[in-house]
Amino acid sequence: MCGIVGAVAQRDVSSILIEGLRRLEYRGYDSAGIALIDDNKLQRFRALGKVNELAVKVNPNQAGAIGIAHTRWATHGVPSENNAHPHFSRQKIALVHNGIIENYKDIRTKLLADGYEFESETDTETVAHLIESYFDGDLLAAVQKAVDQLEGTFGLGVIVSDDPNTLVACRKGSPLVVGLGIKENFVASDVSALLPVTNRFIYLEEGDLVVISQNDYQVYDANGEAKELTINTTELSADAINKGNYKHYMLKEIHEQAKAVADCLEGRISENNVLDSVFGPESERIFKQVEQIQIVACGTSYHAGYVAKYWIEELLGRPCAIEVASEFRYRQSVVPKDTLFVTLSQSGETADTLAALRNLPMEDYCGSVSICNVPESSLVRESSLVLMTRAGPEIGVASTKAFTTQLVSLLLLAISIGKVRSMDKTIISDIVRELIALPRQIESLLFLDKQIEAIAENFIDKHHALFLGRGVHYPIAMEGALKLKEISYIHAEAYPAGELKHGPLALVDAEMPVVVVTPNDGLLEKLHSNMQEVKARGGKLYVFAHQGAKLEEPGEDVVVEMDCETRWTTPILSTIPLQLLSYYVAVQRGTDVDQPRNLAKSVTVE
Ligand code: G6P
Repeated sequence: MCGIVGAVAQRDVSSILIEGLRRLEYRGYDSAGIALIDDNKLQRFRALGKVNELAVKVNPNQAGAIGIAHTRWATHGVPSENNAHPHFSRQKIALVHNGIIENYKDIRTKLLADGYEFESETDTETVAHLIESYFDGDLLAAVQKAVDQLEGTFGLGVIVSDDPNTLVACRKGSPLVVGLGIKENFVASDVSALLPVTNRFIYLEEGDLVVISQNDYQVYDANGEAKELTINTTELSADAINKGNYKHYMLKEIHEQAKAVADCLEGRISENNVLDSVFGPESERIFKQVEQIQIVACGTSYHAGYVAKYWIEELLGRPCAIEVASEFRYRQSVVPKDTLFVTLSQSGETADTLAALRNLPMEDYCGSVSICNVPESSLVRESSLVLMTRAGPEIGVASTKAFTTQLVSLLLLAISIGKVRSMDKTIISDIVRELIALPRQIESLLFLDKQIEAIAENFIDKHHALFLGRGVHYPIAMEGALKLKEISYIHAEAYPAGELKHGPLALVDAEMPVVVVTPNDGLLEKLHSNMQEVKARGGKLYVFAHQGAKLEEPGEDVVVEMDCETRWTTPILSTIPLQLLSYYVAVQRGTDVDQPRNLAKSVTVE
């Protein structure tokens, strides 16, 4: 999704802005641009494609002590240099925008009638002209008037050519932070963009505007009242966000999972139980009331929620519903009394998930819990109960360690609710023992790396793949298919294996790889029968078999053995080889693993 960086300093800010954009690349984008004020004139550089292409275009002799920069993820208008931000109005106002202006057509019609000329197809350019139309020397006042007319979601950064010491920014629905330096101040879509220049941040709240200059800043609420916000010092270091010795962030993040899971568990469990109040002091009171659970999430986080549905219904004997946020937020759902609302999100900024939480009729629920990876995110700040997954920064668009730590967190949630409702202590200690063993088991599965890399070659020329699973492994198959399609662009679909004969079997032939994870559980025999159905049609099976779940006559099938004996954490472990498979298929197909085409890491528009 779009990324914003802005700076006001006593030095040239172009390199700070370019580095900031590089650090936002992971969000996903198709073009980039930068505007600087030099000698009271706006200068602009824009490029289609990567930030590197923008960097070579920026004139090295072009200095500016104030500037705004942007990575664009196209919504209105194709990816092109003309549609790239910053957008100008009459060579006076320059603006960058993240989000969508829903009523831009009406405003554009009015501005056209007033003589404004449009150079792009974007909704954003409308806002630049609207601000210009109100500008009479006071940039804050002009932005306030314009914002009052806008419908939709936005983060904005605005500068004006004849004031090289003022940058105005605002947020409504899209994240924006203010970075505080020494005699220089910044704004950005997230803290990672500014880590090389500061570790002190202010997180703007919904509707806030901020005016920053070299030596000062002031935040205003949506009514224009000045307000104070806390200054936070982040512990993230600028180096935390690099690839180390790995070729891709995704591979690094796959390999970080043992540590991420250990970090997620640290201080939260004893040797046989989950500690009290890991969800906060209010949690016990709320969990005692819970009669059912509604989980809402998007993408990979949705799959984590789907796994939790199986766990929660089995462990707690309570109904658990799971729904994608973009559907849930717009439909009339029936909420039985004492439902707990759970949101899952790596970024904590996913627009649909946030909207589902914000629009919730809280009086119908007994409480809300968010499981999230980014402590400074909107979701965390707006939820009553929170559990941080502690996966550390996840940069690869395809989510890996965020998923496995979400699953661990969901087991902690199930136990925490179960504890206050007299859940069987033996089951609790069984799960906790498995959780303690999990980091070591993940490490051992990573040794399958080379074997899976070799298997991946079989997928290079394939156009489709089927992923099968049963029970709690159906959502794991969904996640495996999602990973493959996201980064290798192979069409991959997941099916509950029992549904094979109701349609997908028609697609099975020698050209269709069928990937199956076989846990040694009560559904193993049924799964083996489904696999026979595939073999009988000439399909090629790729089987990831847990201990005790191997095929008796593997024949032509490719079998990867996973030597872990587990009950509850099995789906977490099953995820690892599927991540490696999609990674190596993508590498061998030569796709952009960390920033796959058309996708974004942080989906801040609906
Ligand atoms: C995007 C990302 C996915 C992620 C999904 C939900 O589609 O590419 O990796 O699973 O958003 O994001 P969230 O931050 O809410 O987990």
